[in-house]
This record gives sequence, C-alpha cells and structure tokens, in this order.
Amino acid sequence: MAFLSDTLSRVKPSATIAVTNKARELAAAGKDVIGLGAGEPDFDTPENIREAAKRAIDAGKTRYTAVDGIPELKAAICAKFLKENGLTYTPQQITVGTGGKQILFNALVATLNPGDEVIIPAPYWVSYPDMVLLAGGTPVPVVAGLETNFKLTPDQLEAAITPKTKWFIFNSPSNPTGAGYTRDELKALTDVLMRHPQVWVMSDDMYEHLVFDDFQFCTPAQIEPGLYERTLTCNGVSKAYAMTGWRIGYAGGPVALIRAMGTVQSQSTSNTCSISQWAALEALSGPQDFLPEFRAAFQKRRDLVVSMLNQAKGITCPTPEGAFYVYPDISGCIGKATPGGVVITNDEIFATALLEETGVAVVFGAAFGLSPNFRVSYATSDEVLREACARIQRFCASLV
Ligand SMILES: Cc1ncc(COP(=O)(O)O)c(C=O)c1O
Repeated sequence: MAFLSDTLSRVKPSATIAVTNKARELAAAGKDVIGLGAGEPDFDTPENIREAAKRAIDAGKTRYTAVDGIPELKAAICAKFLKENGLTYTPQQITVGTGGKQILFNALVATLNPGDEVIIPAPYWVSYPDMVLLAGGTPVPVVAGLETNFKLTPDQLEAAITPKTKWFIFNSPSNPTGAGYTRDELKALTDVLMRHPQVWVMSDDMYEHLVFDDFQFCTPAQIEPGLYERTLTCNGVSKAYAMTGWRIGYAGGPVALIRAMGTVQSQSTSNTCSISQWAALEALSGPQDFLPEFRAAFQKRRDLVVSMLNQAKGITCPTPEGAFYVYPDISGCIGKATPGGVVITNDEIFATALLEETGVAVVFGAAFGLSPNFRVSYATSDEVLREACARIQRFCASLV
C-alpha cells in the first residue's frame, strides 16, 4: 500500500516558496543574495493595527472564536464591501479564514467533484491549479500572453467553457503579472459568463488597493449584478495592509456556499487566530491614510524596475496596472549561453543561472503557466531593486 495519497502525487509544492527558501539558504551560507521571489510587502504592519492586537491580547481575546469569524470583523467586512465595492452582504454571507489562501481552498474543497473543471487564466498565481487538484477538480488553464497584456479575452473565455465548468477564477490585479482589467474589459467577460449559468465566479481581489496611475479597480459582482448569486468575492488584509504573517482572508458570497466553506474550516483549522481577527478589524475600520503611501512607493518601484528591465538585452517588460510584480518576457535570451557555458533553453534554467551567477532570486515563468518569463516581486527598497536590476542587465549582456 502506498503511504502517500494519490491526490498528493498530482500536486507540486509552491515554486515561489521554494525560491524564497533557496535564496534564504544561500544567504545563510554567506552568499550575497537579493531575493525578489517572495510576494510580500517589505513595510511593517501599521502601528494602529499592531496596537489593536496588543489590546486584544491584554483584554483576553485569546480563546476560540466562531469558526468563520468574530461578529465585529464580519460587520466591518460587510461595511468594506458596501463602501468600496458597492456590494451588499449580510454577516451570514461573510466568512473569515487563515489568509486568502484558505478561503479559496475552502471554496474549492466545498464545491468540486471529480470531473468538475475550473478555468484559470494563465499566467496564474501558482497555487490555483494545485488547490483545484487537491480538491479533486480539473484545472483548465487558458493562456493570456504578452499580446493582450496578459488579459483573457471574451472569446478565449467562451471557448474554454464546457458543461463541466464549475468555476472561473478571476484575479485582477494579477499575481504574477500585475495586469488589471478595466471596467470594459471585465464587463466583456461577465457578458460571456451571463450566458453560462452553471459557471460560478471566484474573484480573487487580493491586490485591490495596489493599483497605479488612474487605474480604477472593479470586481465581477459589482460590474454585473446578475452574477451576484454565483460569485464568491475574495479578499484579505495580507498585501494591502502589510499583514502577510497575521493570516487573515475573507470572502462574501451566497449563504449556502459560505456555510459549506465554514463546514470545511470547522473540520480543519477552526477559527483563524483570534488576535489577528481583532487586528484585521482595526485594519479595515481604522485610518486608511497609509494606503496611498504604500501605493505611491510601489508605483515608484514599478517604474524603476520596468525601465531598468527594458534596458536589459533580450528582455521585454510590460508596465502593469497594479500589485507588486512584473512579468518580463525573456524570448531574446533563449538559445544563448552564459559565460560559464550554461545554455538557456528555458526560463527555469535562466532563473537558476541568474541566481547562481548574480545572486538575484526570481521565480521562473513555467511555475505560473506562461514561458519564457520570470516574475519579479518589487516589494523591496529602491536601492536593492536598482542593484538587482543592474545585475540582471549585466547577466543578460553577458549571454552569447
Ligand atoms: C493572487 C493571490 N491570492 C491569494 C493570495 C493569498 O494570500 P494570503 O497570504 O492572505 O493567504 C496571494 C498571496 O500570494 C495571492 O498572490
């Protein structure tokens, strides 16, 4: 009898976590490493949020809570959805979990049966296909490449839908490309979805607050109220509030789905950390003045990285609308060799050679379903980014 499950054999560990670990190991061994792999802001959690957590500890808010969240936080999430997204949810339609990741996972485990298909625009966040596989479903990646600025077209969506399609996962601004859909672009997709009533929409709005220039964030149930009854609107505090370690994600959706997700959570982790829930309440309902500051810092870094990478030989780097990632195309480097004789035949070899020869850690594109590319997380200081991009430029110039 095999010890490991058949399900696990279909799943790979997260490539982004693997790169981050490898960079940590090299740094611990004394190598001069710049990690551009991890998807987390370098800012500290704002002070008012940290203070709210300390108060929660001192007030004894240290026991189990309701599985899907304390009422105070659920009320704040309802208020947030109404104010920022024009979406009306009651507390029964809200669930709180251990990061955005658990929210998505709960929804997939609660709804997927063998044979159910989940449409995932590629490049995608590394975890989507593997979470679908773990939940017993079939991921259906649909590639949206450089020619459409990494955005899925309505024709592509229409062509991918079958009678077995259960979910369409939508992520804007996107990890790994930073691409954000305008209202018109999203409306064109929701028009397609309106013609297919069996398809549910999982909107992953994790990077809602990290948008640049005059880009206006929008989410499917807001753009097409006809989809409200079959949309799960997912979000969290990890990225916008610099709270990755606190592990708070949440969603709003139809009551039956939210209850089913609560059942999954009640038999796995129970409630997420009580202290973190009180901190998230402060994040959502306290002062929001640091958000424009974070945004401005990220926009400056985006401009720096896009400009410097476009000056690297063989690299084309589009300018994203949001998040803190860029996803440069390295077609111009494929087929060339490093001075050490390594032939760059794909983006994984490119990323490995880049790390070994320059100490810059990036995540190769194959992990996100579109090659040849790599992902840079620019959530680090301008100075570090300037040095990393200069090393990438020198590395590319050295290829023959
Ligand atoms: C698109 C997207 N969704 C969800 C998550 C999960 O966030 P959390 O840390 O809250 O689990 C991430 C984190 O990288 C992400 O990039």
